[in-house]
Amino acid sequence: MPDHNPPNTALAMLLGRASVSPSQLRPPAPDAAALELSVAAALRAPDHGGLRPWRFRMIAGEARARWGQVLADSLARRVPETPPERLELEARKPLRAPLVIAAGAALRHNHRIPLWEQEATAAAGVMNLMNALHAQGYGAIWLSSGALEDTVVKHALGLAEADLLLGWIYAGTPAAPVAPMPRPDPSAFWSAWE
Ligand SMILES: Cc1cc2nc3c(=O)[nH]c(=O)nc-3n(C[C@H](O)[C@H](O)[C@H](O)COP(=O)(O)O)c2cc1C
Repeated sequence: MPDHNPPNTALAMLLGRASVSPSQLRPPAPDAAALELSVAAALRAPDHGGLRPWRFRMIAGEARARWGQVLADSLARRVPETPPERLELEARKPLRAPLVIAAGAALRHNHRIPLWEQEATAAAGVMNLMNALHAQGYGAIWLSSGALEDTVVKHALGLAEADLLLGWIYAGTPAAPVAPMPRPDPSAFWSAWE
């Protein structure tokens, strides 16, 4: 595979991003200024119709334990036979990183802009946000769970039932420099169409 020597620092930053597992995320969490910049980057995602679907909820500090209880209650409701130890594990999940960002999207149903385009805008925003966190020296990973589709969980975040929860972005300071991940050869993913 050819070496990719990025000609500028923005590209070097993009090519250097890799997910950081929650076990490798330490305090400090991104501060308010870093989050403001990261959300500003999210708002640069292409947005057909200017619907601005992005909704981010920052869950840090003490709120993480309360959020964990929301998740455990959700699991207990969705899977009533879940053993207590598993519910406790679920409740502790948000404590694994100094910040959990609930990434949501306010969707306009029956709108001339198809839902998938609105979802693409929301997802592109999440990716921009993650790259902005990385550019500022923070680590992050995009995770999901069954709770994403739970209406009670959506309501707890101020979203409507018909809105989309895209995932949980765990963020913090990487315990060690982010190791480059082996990536596939890009030439296998593009070609000229003639
Ligand atoms: C929508 C979405 C949901 C994801 N959910 C999970 C998850 O629940 N658990 C997990 O281990 N990885 C999940 N991933 C994958 C990780 O975020 C990450 O991409 C993967 O660990 C590979 O690391 P990389 O981003 O450095 O390529 C998800 C990715 C996306 C886009």
